[in-house]
Amino acid sequence: MSMRTKAVTLADLKAMKQRGEKFVTLTAYDASFANVFEQAGVEVILVGDSLGMVVQGQETTLPVTLDELIYHCRAVRRGSRQTFLMADMPFMTYNSPQDALKSAGRLMSEGGAQMVKLEGGAVMLDTVTLLSSFGIPVCAHLGLLPQSVHKHGYRVQGKEPDSARQLLDDAQAMQAAGADMVLLECVPATLAAQVSQTLAVPVIGIGAGAECDSQVLVSYDMLGITPGKRPKFSHDFLAGKESILAAVSDYVQAVKSGRFPGPQHQF
Ligand code: KIV
Repeated sequence: MSMRTKAVTLADLKAMKQRGEKFVTLTAYDASFANVFEQAGVEVILVGDSLGMVVQGQETTLPVTLDELIYHCRAVRRGSRQTFLMADMPFMTYNSPQDALKSAGRLMSEGGAQMVKLEGGAVMLDTVTLLSSFGIPVCAHLGLLPQSVHKHGYRVQGKEPDSARQLLDDAQAMQAAGADMVLLECVPATLAAQVSQTLAVPVIGIGAGAECDSQVLVSYDMLGITPGKRPKFSHDFLAGKESILAAVSDYVQAVKSGRFPGPQHQF
């Protein structure tokens, strides 16, 4: 159990990358789970738009609204005061840099978020530049983009040399535009390792191999309660454990020690 006495900051997370120390990210949607995750030593909680699927029972993340995201952020903030709080920008709430500024502003001022996450590469550069110039920390989500599922499907990205090059270029461009973190979803482990080594900012992976600076999982997946088939990159940490705290503590240890993800979880 964590004895954290001081709130985790963005500077702390960047320093951990510099020291080669992995930090742990996990999604949460309410105060009680967030509190357990904080006790277990999770450094970053993501209020993901995965809430549409795992909490609301929607088919995709697309129906999630900004008001809903803010509602869940506020609950998570009340349950975890010391954990760094990242919030997803829901679909269609950042269509222009100005829209993004308004949406991010609400997530931070009303929801208590300390960083916003948005999906997309080069097309998001002006948006990231504007948010960053207003002092809003941004995480750029690259690779598989769940908000683009109807165009690209849920497929591993960056498998071909051209798309791998493009992803690396996008990651570097995002960092140059002011992004403070990058999240890679479902990309080959070798490519994710290259991005993590190239960037100065921390890289969080999901289905992106063990070489990223942090790992994130959807909490309902790693507790084995999401209906249907578990994604290849996830693992049921609750199986055989006596409590959710024990399961999440094991996830924290597994990420920090490099035990998770293993070769069977990567592409
Ligand atoms: O919404 C979410 O939970 C996410 C994860 C897939 C990282 O973005």
